[in-house]
Amino acid sequence: MEKQKTTINDFLKKKQEGRKITMLTAYDYPFAQIMDEAGIDAILVGDSLAMVVQGLENTLPVTMDEMVYHTKMVSRAAKSAMVIGDMPYLSYQVSIEDAVRNAGRFIKEAGAQAVKIEGGRETAEKIEAMTKAEIPVMAHIGLTPQAVHRMGGYKIQGKTEEAAKRLMEDAKILQDAGAFSLLLEAIPAKLAEQITKKLSIPTIGIGAGVHCDGQVLVLHDVIGLFERFTPKFVKRYADLKKDALKAVKQYREEVEKGVFPGKEHSF
Ligand code: KIV
Repeated sequence: MEKQKTTINDFLKKKQEGRKITMLTAYDYPFAQIMDEAGIDAILVGDSLAMVVQGLENTLPVTMDEMVYHTKMVSRAAKSAMVIGDMPYLSYQVSIEDAVRNAGRFIKEAGAQAVKIEGGRETAEKIEAMTKAEIPVMAHIGLTPQAVHRMGGYKIQGKTEEAAKRLMEDAKILQDAGAFSLLLEAIPAKLAEQITKKLSIPTIGIGAGVHCDGQVLVLHDVIGLFERFTPKFVKRYADLKKDALKAVKQYREEVEKGVFPGKEHSF
């Protein structure tokens, strides 16, 4: 039997039943197809696109149009995985109207089922407005890469008692604003566990320990296609760069030596 499309109700049900939610990023059709086939619950079209696909320094320059373009490719492949569009920098910070309109583009134009937005209590009004417009929102606190300049780099968050208290408060505010789940990035495992226990919505961790309701990683980190830096929380499951390099070198050598194309590849 074909697997049904994952919904926000499935997310909630998995938390209630103590079953882990699986999520990875993808930015194009072939990788989204692999994830769908592998049974991943949700695909995040992350603004990490800027760094791992576009080769940019950080996530700040990626645009709404670029995010919509990549989300469309992913949506075409995702038959069962939920597709979540990541709202890029300045697509929601300026006004509630911007937030709803841009979030709506992910749903209306790109075929996503939900969006993700970075930030704590300052995003609550926007989450409320998006939710009222029938757009499911995943909130994202802890290390929020769009705040890289304010944070002074990609640093673990919530280490002091005061910072942990603020994150705990933010989590509750975002749940009350209507977020259907909460992404926790680079915070101590103990704090992530406390937040997870306190909330009725599921938490998805990246660098937030094993007690979150689900986990997410950036695909290119997982399969060895991003080399610039590897955070401590990443586990590499494959080395596709090595395999692709080997294949391309072999192709070059065979063309240069006249070995390829062989008779079997010729008409
Ligand atoms: O853009 C992204 O890939 C993310 C991950 C850190 C989850 O937000």
